[in-house]
Amino acid sequence: MTAQQAEFVVVANRLPVDKAVLPDGEVSWKRSPGGLVTALEPILRSHTGAWVGWSGVPDSDDNPDIEGLDIRAVPLSSAEIAEYYEGFSNATLWPLYHDVIAKPEYHREWWNAYVAINERFAKATAEVAGPGALVWVQDYQLQLVPQMLRDLRPDLKIGFFLHIPFPPVELFMQLPWRREIVNGLLGADLIGFHLPDGAENFLYLANRLGGHQASRRSVGVRSRFGSVDVGDRVVTVGAFPISIASGEIDAASKSREIRKRAREIRKELGNPSTILLGVDRLDYTKGIDVRLKAVSELLEEQRLDPHETVLVQLATPSRERVESYVAMRSEIEQLVGHINGTFAEVGQPVVQYLNRPIPRDELLAFFVAADVMLVTPLRDGMNLVAKEYVACRSDLGGALVLSEFTGAAAELKQAYQANPYDMEGVKGAIEAAVKQPAEDGRARMRALRRQVLTHDVEKWAKSFLDTLQDSTDR
Ligand code: ADP
Ligand code: F6P
Repeated sequence: MTAQQAEFVVVANRLPVDKAVLPDGEVSWKRSPGGLVTALEPILRSHTGAWVGWSGVPDSDDNPDIEGLDIRAVPLSSAEIAEYYEGFSNATLWPLYHDVIAKPEYHREWWNAYVAINERFAKATAEVAGPGALVWVQDYQLQLVPQMLRDLRPDLKIGFFLHIPFPPVELFMQLPWRREIVNGLLGADLIGFHLPDGAENFLYLANRLGGHQASRRSVGVRSRFGSVDVGDRVVTVGAFPISIASGEIDAASKSREIRKRAREIRKELGNPSTILLGVDRLDYTKGIDVRLKAVSELLEEQRLDPHETVLVQLATPSRERVESYVAMRSEIEQLVGHINGTFAEVGQPVVQYLNRPIPRDELLAFFVAADVMLVTPLRDGMNLVAKEYVACRSDLGGALVLSEFTGAAAELKQAYQANPYDMEGVKGAIEAAVKQPAEDGRARMRALRRQVLTHDVEKWAKSFLDTLQDSTDR
């Protein structure tokens, strides 16, 4: 397939694989971090097309070979990575869109870099897309691309999906470039959010900041879409909760190797009665500190037995040069040290903390082994880890503790839900999950699995792409 002929193009900040240059100069490619790639990678296996994105290292325009996919690397210099990616994307927009858990920084140079890099992505996409192609722009790093691309290529059908929460109106209004962002997004034919609230916030702002006529009725899930009149175009706005390749994960988790590895993990951990598990990018939004403090207090109050409990925290490094991430990492490592210093015995740590990415099959074995999965973000667009855990529990074992402030909480009602700001509430949810009667646990897991297995990522992509097709056919 030649680049000009791509009929389907995904545009994302990252390529599906990250480039690593080894000390001897050899190049290797490994899976990129984060939920966006987890979700889109199986979709791109079933739709041939092109993927426009950054390789994760400075100044590289290498295009890795991936069967069925035309990869178009967008090069970024070190200064651009600092200003567009670490700066405006991850020190301005990320905290602003996640309830200002960290204080967003507003710098005009960062904004200028964001505009310039969005322009670069739009141009690269305009070159790859065939006539009338369907282009799917992803996430908060590229919110200006829809309008820039429309200016370059009015023939394209353009969809945009936001993988993180869209903030409440009062917080969004802080952004000095709020009008530019709203108008950038309105270049799309369809704008998708995880939840109806985000879609409704956006509809309000399209009217208030963009001055456009926008629908006012409530938005449904994959239904009752909103609309914004932009000149002679109608932009559709909807809620499409993202998911995982549930069937594939369910099947993989049933394999003999993964079951065996799960048993080995329990044994290696000293055969405790309770394995608690956390799996996250090391990000301050994920509430890793919340669960560590909760477990520490439960041990202190003898509601958990340190001889029978192990907490495994798998935390993959993320955005390591952004200041708030550096501070959070040392806070978490201190908490881990405090718990082990207080409650562990020699050779029997209570918290096992790994700060590196875990291979996929090994991760599935941890999900199969864990008695209680701890998902405690202060705010999260969806949280795919919660769904992955449920997909791995065909044995109907295990229990999920889930923050109310994740997108997943709207679907996973039978989890032990808690407000992560309410420490007693989190402790109560963890204790209830650890001590759940077996039959109650099975009933909860059965209901959770019904939701996750019937709402997979294929359904998410199909509902988004069908709505995009319908909105451009009108
Ligand atoms: P986010 O997109 O914010 O990182 P999600 O929970 O939606 O959060 O997606 C995270 C993805 O990254 C999941 O597929 C999860 O399995 C994977 N992941 C998270 N932590 C690790 C880890 N320590 N090692 C390997 N994969 C991880
Ligand atoms: O889902 C949110 C998200 O920021 C994605 O856009 C991104 O791919 C992922 O998390 C990982 O973050 P990063 O690309 O900054 O490592």
